[in-house]
Amino acid sequence: MSPQPTAAPDAQHKNFRFRCIGCGDLSDAAGQDFRCQRCSDLLEIVYPASKDSPTAAVHLKSTWRERRLSDRSLDRSGVWRFREMLPSLAGDEQVITLSEGNTPLYELPRCARITGVPKLFAKHQGINPTGSFKDAGMTVAATFAHRAGFAWVACASTGNTSASMAAYAARGGMRSLVLVPEGKISWSKLSQALDYGAVTCQLRTDFDGCLQLLQKLVCHAPVYQLNSINPFRLEGQKTLAIELLEQLDWQPPDHLIVPGGNLGNSSAIGKALLEMRDLGLISRLPKLSVIQAEGANALVRTLRESHGKKLVSLQAETRATAIRIGNPASWKKAVHVIEASGGACEQVSEIEIARAKAEIGAEGIGCEPASAVTLAGLKKLVAQQFVRPDESVVLILTGNLLKDPDYTIEFHKGELFPDESDATSKDSLRLEDSLNVLRRPPVILDATLDAVIGTLEQVEKS
Ligand code: F0G
Repeated sequence: MSPQPTAAPDAQHKNFRFRCIGCGDLSDAAGQDFRCQRCSDLLEIVYPASKDSPTAAVHLKSTWRERRLSDRSLDRSGVWRFREMLPSLAGDEQVITLSEGNTPLYELPRCARITGVPKLFAKHQGINPTGSFKDAGMTVAATFAHRAGFAWVACASTGNTSASMAAYAARGGMRSLVLVPEGKISWSKLSQALDYGAVTCQLRTDFDGCLQLLQKLVCHAPVYQLNSINPFRLEGQKTLAIELLEQLDWQPPDHLIVPGGNLGNSSAIGKALLEMRDLGLISRLPKLSVIQAEGANALVRTLRESHGKKLVSLQAETRATAIRIGNPASWKKAVHVIEASGGACEQVSEIEIARAKAEIGAEGIGCEPASAVTLAGLKKLVAQQFVRPDESVVLILTGNLLKDPDYTIEFHKGELFPDESDATSKDSLRLEDSLNVLRRPPVILDATLDAVIGTLEQVEKS
């Protein structure tokens, strides 16, 4: 493992500092574990308070728009295009980029009818180079790792971080080490890490166990950690919200809804919203709500049982494996942004996730199960009247449909919930019926005209 870097990436270019989210201590450099030297809490990146006038916000908006016509790789990235809100690079320094970001904002007319919220949109982060929102953070963190001279980067992952990290490490000429829970991530994500050349360790533990081990590893070996504990990751992920607001002509939606796992993404989006407001780019904050799977509901319980003061961690279980996390690292940051924006935190069941995923698929968009918690959560927030029908809502879809094909196929074949067919209660039967309407299992036929026409006629009748 060489060469050994001389220092962790730090604030050499000084448009930013690290601040501890616990004690507020400010520093110019961060240790390998990205934790406060004094109180061990997580660090965040902060910028000097802006003395800019409202015209500066107008200028920023037009600069960012003009860059869309540029051919520079820095400008073609939907992350670095917004570099005034990111840690600064030295002059024309090379960035490790795969033209990430630039993701579409879709209308969801069918889901709008289902939820009774006509102004419903999805920002699809699954349309990124490696198929998830992780790429937006990885381009920034990998660039800073490279700049600091690290030969190795590492992460613990439920699959998407590892896929993204392995790709960006390869592009930047670094080696990568992946720690994933054995048997608990989709093959599709695992195959990406392998293809991009990562050293991949499937550990006999869960994601939380992998992350714990990584935290120890980075204190003993010259590897640079690229989990969302790394605040450079969150700076990159902020650009999702900046790009979204640009797509909405800087008119904030009433609600943003995001899935919650390790809680880095919700923290990053919330940080972006607060910074955009402080810079005068937007005049009000959308409510940022976080949705978790019932079996991985650490933040829901933390807010309900300790009013956000003390983490309630748990043994997580859900088929939405991307968010199968019971001890989320960025929980404090997430509590802060939910409270600052007036958002909510809800949980949804496995059946609600599966149904929502099929409904998003039926829009011709598709997403992975973890992303579908947003639509399932919206239904709950509408039922609670937290979201009103006349309000605008943007769902953040975090991962591509192709990330977890086994889940989709099992759902359509009726094999996702093996116990479901035994269900006898009225509620269970109603749920099963509602899922059956969405199922489109493949049919195996003889290769004859009659067989295919017969199938068409059957579907028409049903
Ligand atoms: N959606 C998808 C598709 C994810 O992969 C993740 C997290 C989340 C949502 C939750 O985001 O952790 O920032 O709250 N995936 C991580 C990984 C943990 O290792 O790929 P979060």
